[in-house]
Amino acid sequence: MLIKFFKPYISGNELKYIKDLFDNRLDLSGDGKYTKMAQEFLEKKYHVNKVFLTTSGTTALELAVRLLDLKPGDEVIVPSFTFSSTVNAILFSYGVKVVFTEIQKDTLNIDPKDIKRKLNKNTKAIMVVHYAGVACDMDRIMKTAKESNLKVIEDAAQAIESKYKNKYLGTIGDFGCLSFHDTKNVTCGEGGALYINTDDKKIIEKAEIIREKGTNRTKFFRGEVDKYTWVDVGSSILPSDILAAFLLAQLESIDEITKKRLKAYNYYKKLLSKYEKHKIFRIPKIPKYAIHNGHIFYVIFSSEKDRNFTMDFLRKNGVQATFHYIPLHSAPQGIRLGYKASDLKITENVSKCVMRFPLYADMAKEEIKYVAKVFEEAMKKLHGK
Ligand SMILES: Cc1ncc(COP(=O)(O)O)c(C=O)c1O
Repeated sequence: MLIKFFKPYISGNELKYIKDLFDNRLDLSGDGKYTKMAQEFLEKKYHVNKVFLTTSGTTALELAVRLLDLKPGDEVIVPSFTFSSTVNAILFSYGVKVVFTEIQKDTLNIDPKDIKRKLNKNTKAIMVVHYAGVACDMDRIMKTAKESNLKVIEDAAQAIESKYKNKYLGTIGDFGCLSFHDTKNVTCGEGGALYINTDDKKIIEKAEIIREKGTNRTKFFRGEVDKYTWVDVGSSILPSDILAAFLLAQLESIDEITKKRLKAYNYYKKLLSKYEKHKIFRIPKIPKYAIHNGHIFYVIFSSEKDRNFTMDFLRKNGVQATFHYIPLHSAPQGIRLGYKASDLKITENVSKCVMRFPLYADMAKEEIKYVAKVFEEAMKKLHGK
């Protein structure tokens, strides 16, 4: 049996909505019928003040950082245990310093205590990453941000539908960034969204301009100016309406997708928890304040050797298990920024010991049972029974 690491879910309406664009000769560029519908869907369902679809989670992060208006010498606190895009977004602002921060062992999310340690007069923002769609400790983080007058960007790339207490992730900080990459719960191949959690018109207008190549074309389309022109430095961050049509169909199935993913997650947990007693690995606990979306099922091994053995064993038996992230502070670009591996010991250790299991909405019970059976064989080999 071959168990793929991920498979995108198909809701059934994707092609119908795309066909509507062609049948009715609608515009295929950005900000068309389906972009507006997808944005409105997100605004209503997740109570967001303003949503802009973007071409990726990466460009949503870049746009969010641009809106902070950072200056050379400013510092941004960010976890090292994340995808490169979180930190690239900061480094596009010339002279801005990235301050890598430790994670908590239970959630692998940024450690609020370490944020406080890393604060200084140059700190302007905190970027948090809701790893595996499980919320960071947002009350503590927002309290620190308020006390020190810092902006907060939530990298909610993995966190659609997830909540911190009763609030949807991405809506708590100043900005939230979602990803609709193929590997995410909801996808359009490549795509993303920026949540703007303020009704400050200047910020919203600035976002409109940056994503429209630095022009005020959005204003022109609304009839607010009689011609459009170059007004700021910008980029091309609007996805085509073809992608937005695909995305809307996916978004409309989000309840079903989340339910199915959580079912698969809980089944994994049930099948694997009996092997936890050997202390070869642990299944992370979800904090009481978090309602998650079943984005990732992962375990943390006690040693890198056991993690690598198990991952190889699963792969040899057709199960595409994997790991991430190589910590950013000890990656070649992180070293170039002046960091060394020993600066963040928890992050280094976790990264060597994490293993992710295949998980997708349509995963059959039989597939999960097969993965659990192969995993059981690996555990038997490891603890010698
Ligand atoms: C935590 C995190 N941030 C940012 C991104 C980037 O999203 P995208 O691939 O849509 O650019 C990802 C994607 O894997 C991610 O996991």
